[in-house]
Amino acid sequence: MRILAIETSCDETAIAIIDGSGGLRSPKFKILSNIVSSQIKIHKKYGGVVPHLAKREHQKNLVPVLKQSLEKTRFLKVNFPANEKNSIFIPNLSRDKIKIKENFNQLKEIFIHEPELFLKLFNFLIKYEFPKFDAIAITVGPGLEPALWTGINFARALSFLFDIPLIPVDHMAAHIYVNWLNKNFSKKPFPALTLLISGGHTQLVLGGKYNDFKIIGETRDDAVGEAFDKVAKLLKLGYPGGPIIEKIAEKGNAAAFNFPRPMIKQKNYEFSFSGLKTAVLYEFKKNDHLKTINYKLKVDMAASFQQAAVDVLVEKTVKAINEFKVKNFLVGGGVSANKKIRTDLEKAVKKQFAGWRKKIKIYFPRPDLATDNALSVAVAGYFNYLKGVKIDWQNARAVPNLRIDYLDF
Ligand code: KG4
Ligand code: ZN
Repeated sequence: MRILAIETSCDETAIAIIDGSGGLRSPKFKILSNIVSSQIKIHKKYGGVVPHLAKREHQKNLVPVLKQSLEKTRFLKVNFPANEKNSIFIPNLSRDKIKIKENFNQLKEIFIHEPELFLKLFNFLIKYEFPKFDAIAITVGPGLEPALWTGINFARALSFLFDIPLIPVDHMAAHIYVNWLNKNFSKKPFPALTLLISGGHTQLVLGGKYNDFKIIGETRDDAVGEAFDKVAKLLKLGYPGGPIIEKIAEKGNAAAFNFPRPMIKQKNYEFSFSGLKTAVLYEFKKNDHLKTINYKLKVDMAASFQQAAVDVLVEKTVKAINEFKVKNFLVGGGVSANKKIRTDLEKAVKKQFAGWRKKIKIYFPRPDLATDNALSVAVAGYFNYLKGVKIDWQNARAVPNLRIDYLDF
């Protein structure tokens, strides 16, 4: 089945087109297009994502991103006139155009809070033939409410016009399911343990089967990606912090500062990263007057901070693999792009589980698919569809605090 997937939960406007086949037993995917339009430039000056600006940018970008996706797949065809009979009454109007014209007010109603997007979509759709899809997958949460709604209303309008079902997708589930796009991905992926590390979440999740997830522990305060972003901001390194810290940390001494590893020895799977961020802040303030050595200091602080964060993630993960005896360990979310996290996790798992447990397989997302994208939404959408999760366009809603263990779809 051919799926159009849309992602607007935060600051990336992303659309992907995928062909899914094989069912839950042996799913296969053919990637037809994957376009991500990043808003980093817009949010950079604020040092974080500003929700109403994210919404404004999604309104601007959704139609150009859709157009690019369709061009890439050669699905973009200029509209053709309707059959002769129709054209006697409405010359040169195709069936698609008639549908738009007849439902103009309904469409306007869908975009009551996104008038700019409505105009852009209207001008686009009257020019081209409706492309053929079997369903539209859309992220409904968790995420920033105004950002989520923009994508949802876009998806609702397309679902209504194309007369195809909407598949609601959980953003964190998408970060898990993107691993299914790995070459040599497990034929028997469950039971699995997943470490989800992003700008909004830090969770250890057990997966029993498709869409059956249980959070066994999560952060009590900041998410690990948020800590990377905040530390980069306070060290005046720029935004988003994760990739910048990773880059400069390569040149730093990770043992220069002995930052705390919060909750590392506690017998649970909870995390806390706000104290670690504050420890970096104190250390930075102590040395802030030393103008000349600031850069070297920052590099060492970045490396020491990264190491502290990675150590906690590794320790808790190894403990969870041990307790729950899973054979598949998956990582997901933007922070999983980090090479230090990848190598340290791999090393620790290999070291801890030598012998018969060597069979434990670790999967990281393709580096370009670790951060937000719509391919992951398309894959999650395929699984949801197979599980019968489809909704009518009228019933789609944003769920900003959606939790993966509360998936009722
Ligand atoms: O999954 P994602 O794209 O968006 C959310 O769902 O939050 O994750 C974004 C987060 C940001 O905090 C960003 O700084 C972090 O992922 N990130 C990284 C790296 N690349 C992105 N953190 C550490 N190292 C990286 N290479
Ligand atoms: Zn994400």
